[in-house]
Amino acid sequence: MHAAWIVRPYAAGDRAAVRRICCDTADAGRPVEAFFDDRELTADLLMNYYTDFEPESAWVAEQAAGPAIAGEVAGYLTGCRDTGRFKRLMFWYIVPRALFKALLRGTWWAASTRRLIRWNLPIWWQPLGHRAKSLSGFPAHLHINLRPGMQGQGIGRQLMNQFLAQLRLANIPGVHLSAREDNIAAIAFFEKNGFTRLGRRPFMQLGPGVEDIRYSAIMAKSL
Ligand SMILES: CC(C)(COP(=O)(O)OP(=O)(O)OC[C@H]1O[C@@H](n2cnc3c(N)ncnc32)[C@H](O)[C@@H]1OP(=O)(O)O)[C@@H](O)C(=O)NCCC(=O)NCCS
Repeated sequence: MHAAWIVRPYAAGDRAAVRRICCDTADAGRPVEAFFDDRELTADLLMNYYTDFEPESAWVAEQAAGPAIAGEVAGYLTGCRDTGRFKRLMFWYIVPRALFKALLRGTWWAASTRRLIRWNLPIWWQPLGHRAKSLSGFPAHLHINLRPGMQGQGIGRQLMNQFLAQLRLANIPGVHLSAREDNIAAIAFFEKNGFTRLGRRPFMQLGPGVEDIRYSAIMAKSL
């Protein structure tokens, strides 16, 4: 039988747990090490905006039963009400700082890192400018991830409902997200929650050729 869980607002004490879940699920539900070894940089780039600049839009699911696991974070939803603000902070502060910290750690000396960066820099820079006119009616965005073993119990839906209710209260007209096209389960989940596909964009390049480019679906929902 599954342990009981509750959904509650994110608190500063959850920071380490949500960063760990982010890295454990970064490869469409699998650990980030499939393509990158620096967990600190991964979490800095994927989480810092949400935990450090808009924590009031983040929610966590916490396991509430079972002596060994009570209080453990089972998953999170990180949200952003204004993607324009997100892009500005990412471009001017979060990305440069994270890359500099990684430089001090020596991450850039690994040949695998340099290769990944060379293939992906043009792709990864695009999200900072790609949210073109078609997304103007969907200024908010979100990320959602549950620990392996916690999926399929209604937790994702509950996290989503909390965030969507929060956006409606704030009169935000719409919300978007991106999900890897090969993450069939996540796309089915988002469709079940009323998101529709608006398009696609390159997400990562795993080799030197165009055939090595992987794509994300851009999905959106009006509120
Ligand atoms: C994607 C994810 C957030 C969904 O959360 P979840 O708690 O597993 O989903 P829920 O149990 O709340 O399901 C909600 C609805 O989505 C549907 N759904 C969930 N997974 C599905 C799947 N694999 N196939 C079809 N439908 C699915 C459920 O059937 C349910 O609909 P119902 O209530 O009508 O039965 C979660 O599975 C997860 O974190 N996966 C790993 C990381 C990941 O892929 N994150 C998304 C990155 S973009």
